[in-house]
Amino acid sequence: SRAIKIAPSILSADFANFGAECRAIEDQGADWVHVDVMDGHFVPNLTFGPAMCAAIRPHIRGVMDVHLMIAPVDAYIEAYAAAGADIITAHLEAGPHIHRTLQAIRHTGKKAGLALNPGTGIDAVAHVLDMVDLICVMTVNPGFGGQKFIHSQVDKVRSLRAMIGDRPIHIEIDGGVTVETAPLVAAAGADVLVAGSAVFKGGSVGDPAPYGANIAAI
Ligand code: DX5
Ligand code: ZN
Repeated sequence: SRAIKIAPSILSADFANFGAECRAIEDQGADWVHVDVMDGHFVPNLTFGPAMCAAIRPHIRGVMDVHLMIAPVDAYIEAYAAAGADIITAHLEAGPHIHRTLQAIRHTGKKAGLALNPGTGIDAVAHVLDMVDLICVMTVNPGFGGQKFIHSQVDKVRSLRAMIGDRPIHIEIDGGVTVETAPLVAAAGADVLVAGSAVFKGGSVGDPAPYGANIAAI
């Protein structure tokens, strides 16, 4: 298994064929499946409720990585855990009580992730390092696939990796990951790369062959 994991975001998949799309990306080299949950409030877009996550769960053999872009978030954590998430990531900016939110995620027995928007510094992360399995560095402003990578985040990733030291915490990059930007964040210390448009471009359920080449290229 490679050192860098690729987690395709199904936000860029065919919404009428999630089961087939999940099977296709896993068959073609995806390490995790990334599910972007948006509430039309924390971010200006709406996507998947817990029922949708539960429906796609049987079509994912490996890790279902659920990124909650919702506020408030605590009341929904149980529902996404019950829907079969393996990792539940909440945003630092989604409420005043990230410590409580991370406790709530850990309480479900799922792995806990903490996401940071591009404008958010890493200082607060220092105080919850013992509570997280993953830190997601947003390299676009969350809400939509296909946006341009924000280069100022590369230094942030490097600082975060130094802060984490040898703790077993993943650094996940989310947004604008392409063949060009992936090496920059990998060199800075990221080990999980979310990619939506870069994985699903050129493919379809009927002809999913490009996914494997797209994943391998990243
Ligand atoms: C953005 C989402 C990302 C997004 C990535 O709010 O969290 O996962 O779908 O899409 P690309 O790779 O197209 O930037
Ligand atoms: Zn995401």
